[in-house]
Amino acid sequence: MFVISFASCKGGAGKTTLSTHFSYFLAQKGFKVLHLDMDYQSASTYFFKEPEQNISVNNITKLFQKFPPAKSTVMELIYSSRYKDIDYIPSTPLFADIEDEITMLRDWNRRLEPIVQSVGDIYNFLVIDCPPSKGKVIKNIFQISNAIIIPMEADRLGFDGMQLTLNEIAENNEFRKYENRQLLKTAGIAFNLVEKNTIINSTYMEEIRMMYKELVLTNALPKLVAYRQALSVLKTVFETKEWQPAAIKMEYLFTELTERLTTMIISQEDTNV
Ligand SMILES: Nc1ncnc2c1ncn2[C@@H]1O[C@H](COP(=O)(O)OP(=O)(O)O)[C@@H](O)[C@H]1O
Ligand SMILES: [Mg+2]
Repeated sequence: MFVISFASCKGGAGKTTLSTHFSYFLAQKGFKVLHLDMDYQSASTYFFKEPEQNISVNNITKLFQKFPPAKSTVMELIYSSRYKDIDYIPSTPLFADIEDEITMLRDWNRRLEPIVQSVGDIYNFLVIDCPPSKGKVIKNIFQISNAIIIPMEADRLGFDGMQLTLNEIAENNEFRKYENRQLLKTAGIAFNLVEKNTIINSTYMEEIRMMYKELVLTNALPKLVAYRQALSVLKTVFETKEWQPAAIKMEYLFTELTERLTTMIISQEDTNV
């Protein structure tokens, strides 16, 4: 199982839009996907939930109880989504209440490892929708991730959010070097909400491309109302003809991303042999 997280310290950058669509994209390609919603706002959860599905109100909080969860507990957290080949682990608003207590737990930053250990053989990909923060939850997520995608709006606040996320990745890699583990990769910075004719967007995009070079994905997502409509009617832009322009842009971005991930997965397998 390859673990890919959509992270940015800034809210509204596109983590949920991109991660839900990427899970759908991978499933369409025939991969078995587990989508993990780690944001207490639970946007991915509403997206994947079957209409009549009853979800345990304290679902992912069970990962952060006194003792690390057993395999049977992990299995209980997993639900089937509205889509074939996508299962998901729902979040809950209650998750916000326990965040402060996480550091008091034993192995507090390794609480997601049981997921990888329990279902790593069942799924090809674990896609994680991160909360907009730089805290304890993110540290847990980065601990199990293989690669991070940073969606960002090309402006001042977007830039700050992206840099904070890169710092967090660097910090995680300090631990990995110490533990002799494979490093966490930045799979790409993805520009989102791009408005073609605004100078602010083009100036930031140009500067960030110069600064971060190949870290930035060539394809960007424009600001299109279709992406908003899609999430509000619980569909991906791939599912309705009317949203084809939005779907095409998304397809370009994900094709580029998948090529990068394929290289990473191959080099990871090589080092594991
Ligand atoms: N490219 C885009 N064009 C138009 N609206 C977008 C685009 N990307 C995201 N949005 C909208 O912006 C809001 C925030 O996006 P979201 O994916 O929820 O961000 P995050 O998960 O990072 O907070 C949502 O209402 C979403 O539908
Ligand atoms: Mg979100």
